[in-house]
Amino acid sequence: MKTTGKYHIEKNTVQETLVIPLYGRKVCADHYPELFMDKEAERICEMLDYDFASKKKIMESPAGLFGALEVAQRHYDLLCEISDYLKVYPEAAVVNLGCGLDDSFHKADNGLCRGYNIDLPEVIEIRNELLGATEREVNISFDLNDHAWMNLIDGRKGAIFFAAGVFYYFQREEIKKLFKKMAESFPEGVLVFDCCNELGAKMMRKTWLKEAGISDVSAYFSLKDKSEIEGWSNRFKRVSERSYMRGYRDIYHDVGFFHKLMLVFCDRLVRMKIIRIEFGKEERG
Ligand SMILES: C[S@@+](CC[C@H](N)C(=O)[O-])C[C@H]1O[C@@H](n2cnc3c(N)ncnc32)[C@H](O)[C@@H]1O
Repeated sequence: MKTTGKYHIEKNTVQETLVIPLYGRKVCADHYPELFMDKEAERICEMLDYDFASKKKIMESPAGLFGALEVAQRHYDLLCEISDYLKVYPEAAVVNLGCGLDDSFHKADNGLCRGYNIDLPEVIEIRNELLGATEREVNISFDLNDHAWMNLIDGRKGAIFFAAGVFYYFQREEIKKLFKKMAESFPEGVLVFDCCNELGAKMMRKTWLKEAGISDVSAYFSLKDKSEIEGWSNRFKRVSERSYMRGYRDIYHDVGFFHKLMLVFCDRLVRMKIIRIEFGKEERG
């Protein structure tokens, strides 16, 4: 809903969670411009009617800034995955699951691929207004648990699906069904997403969501490691994982002492990872 010329973000909703990564990218661009320059994140924040003043206080504390580093780093990691996939399938569908106001497609666009951004109707309404869509891009209002969204994706020239900060809000059974259906529908496809273990999910509930006053969600999904999902479908050709803070670009030497400690903690104890699932045509016997 538009008020005072800006788009109002309702407090205490799943939709409000989209502000965290968006504002985190802006804060990282301010603090670490050489690593995370992101003018678009700043521009979009300026168009939202949201209490950024209180968020700024939280996010610029040492712990808050680490959270911002996490979301900015995850954004970077997933862009690496998209760009690698597009080298092999340049005309692929690039599908942002639970897109919020994330502009990865614009950053990854090679002039040939097609972008699909999927989120709940309230979010897509805001997205259409603030980001619009280019000629090879479409914003789709759908609940990801209603698998009919897959019919709208043209994956004939390949498809890379990515989700940043989304599956924490899903039940494990929902995720299993979703992944299985995707593997059946897109045999050339790849899915990449971030996750952490149960300790990380608990911490997220107690810190990020609590601080943000978001109570209509509880983080459900967590993974000890990739072996937990490998057996979910015989159409998973290969499942791999990489550290999300250190596996794509190691920023250990770019941050201060406290953040170095947090980085090692999140890597080793919370097991923050990017999981990559390659779907395959052949069913294993
Ligand atoms: C933490 S935000 C992340 C937004 C974006 N991926 C980013 O990194 O900026 C989570 C997003 O997932 C969306 N989401 C949560 N559950 C969903 C569902 N069942 N179907 C579609 N989108 C969903 C929310 O509306 C929200 O935009």
